[in-house]
This record gives sequence, C-alpha cells and structure tokens, in this order.
Amino acid sequence: MSFPIRRPRRLRSNETIRRMVRETTLTPDDFIYPLFVTFGRGVQKKIASMPGCYQLSIDRAVKEAESVFKLGIPAVILFGIPEKKDATGSGSYDPKGVIQRAVKAIKDRVPELLVITDVCLCEYTSHGHCGIIKGDKVLNDPTLEVLAKEALSHVRAGADIVAPSDMMDGRIGFIRDVLDAHGFVDTPIISYAAKYASAFYSPFRDAAESVPSFGDRRSYQMDPANRREAIKEVALDIEEGADIVMVKPAWSYLDVISDVKDTFDVPVAAYSVSGEYSLIKAAAKMGWIDETRVMLEVLTSIKRAGADIILTYFAKEAAKAL
Ligand code: PBG
Repeated sequence: MSFPIRRPRRLRSNETIRRMVRETTLTPDDFIYPLFVTFGRGVQKKIASMPGCYQLSIDRAVKEAESVFKLGIPAVILFGIPEKKDATGSGSYDPKGVIQRAVKAIKDRVPELLVITDVCLCEYTSHGHCGIIKGDKVLNDPTLEVLAKEALSHVRAGADIVAPSDMMDGRIGFIRDVLDAHGFVDTPIISYAAKYASAFYSPFRDAAESVPSFGDRRSYQMDPANRREAIKEVALDIEEGADIVMVKPAWSYLDVISDVKDTFDVPVAAYSVSGEYSLIKAAAKMGWIDETRVMLEVLTSIKRAGADIILTYFAKEAAKAL
C-alpha cells in the first residue's frame, strides 16, 4: 500500500508531533569534554586552531571542571602538556606530573564529576610518537610497560577511568592486569579501540604539542580505508578487558560506529576530534554555516549511528543549546 494512503509527511506536520516520533535525542549525559592541562598557575592559553579551547593550568582546569559539571556533563577527559619531555616518555608516570596533580585537584573540588585520563606517550616523548622508539620503529612490547605505569599512576591519583589511546597491540590486557594486581579491579577502561591514522587530528597536535618529529602514526593507528579491521580491533580489546570501546574520529566513520554497535554489547564511545570541531568553527566564522545547527546535527548523527557516548569539544556549547 502506498500513496495516497501512505503519507509520511503526516508525522512531520508540527514540532510537537516531530518530537513525539523523534528517534534520537541528545542530552548532556552523552558528552565527555576534553581538557588540556598545562604547568604553571593562572594560565589560560588560547589554542589558535581550536577557537574556544585553551591550555589550562591546574587551578583554571579545576574551575572549568566545575562549570562543566554544572552544565550536566558527567565527565572530562584530561590531556597533559608536561614541562619536560624525554625519549621514553617517563614524565607520563611521574606521581607529581601535571595530569596526576590535575586529577587530584579536580576530584577534590568536584568529586562527582568523572575524571577520565588519556593514557598515551605522545605528549611526553621528545620525538612525539606514542611509544618507545628504536631507530625509526615504534616498539610495541616495551611500550606496554610504560603505558601500564602511566595508567597506574593516573588511577593512584584518583582517576575514575583510564583511556589508552596509543594503539599498541595487547595494551588493554596488559594495563588491566597491572591495575588488578594493585587492587584497582573496579576501575573501568575505555579503549580507543578503532583509532584511525587520521588527518583530522592536526589541530589537537598543536593543542597537546604532540606532533611526531619524524614519520607518521600509520604503523600503529588504523588505515582509514578499513572497516572490517575495526571489528577485529574492538573484539580483541573487549577480550582483553575493555569496558567501553571507542571509534575515532567520528563523523567520517559513522559506518564503523554502526558496525561496532551492531556487533558488540558494550557501550560505544565516539571521539569527534579536533579537526571536526575546527572545520565547523572556521566555516561559522566565515558566515557560511549556522554553527549551532550544524553542531547539533553532527552530534545527533554520531548518536544516531550508534554512539552511546560522544567525546566532543562542543560539549559545553551543546549542553547549553539543548
Ligand atoms: C593521543 C591522542 C590524539 C588524540 C587523542 N589522543 C592524537 C593523535 O593520536 O595524534 C586526537 C584528538 C583530537 O584530534 O581531537 N595519542
């Protein structure tokens, strides 16, 4: 049976009926807001390629965390910009490091806000790669030891959840074992399970000062052309103990988000990355798009594809707009 009996427009005739049949609704509960934490005091340094985002010293990050929580956003994810970097990223597990102190300061002031830490070496290594290097190779197994020390130090500082983003093989299982051996059996892991070697990360690398000094990340992050491989990566991470799995970036990878959602029964996170944010900001600045509508449309599409959780630099603006 078809037209004139079937008229889909009947369910679109006014906002109330559209609201009633709407399949996807965003709420501030869906968001995780990324924060870039740097050393010093009273620092709020603009990130040129990400208008509205800042590198914040710990005192400022605490204030920001308070306002994030007041907007109804349940979690922040922290990225650290350390004062010193070295070849092995040893600053990543310094108990007095910028992230470790930031976690404690935020949890002291806003205990109900979930504090997630990004676990990776690229912000702490002098060469900017996400692991230990030998010549021009990024070594897998030696990197796991450092990542586990980093994750443990974050949890000891009070992190609620750790989120490894390095894409080394076996790191979820390795980190899970170390956390468990130290009694942190209840700390969840969000795995950056399907993380692609994407050109959309470049504004972030300015923000986190983590541009690789040679080569690129294609020997550890995934090839953007691959879809089935994401299922393999996610399956491995769940087997190793990941509680939540992430697809990253988001808006060019909606098919991957949808596959992961359909295949597995754990919550799915999607990271709408720096380049996605900057493109919208830039076009809005030129007056070419309606920023609020495009922002909400993109976030809605990520959720519609299957994401339960969205990491987004728009979290605060979206929470205000909803
Ligand atoms: C660290 C990390 C990156 C991002 C999150 N964690 C950068 C990278 O892999 O180069 C990207 C986030 C963004 O672009 O917003 N490995």
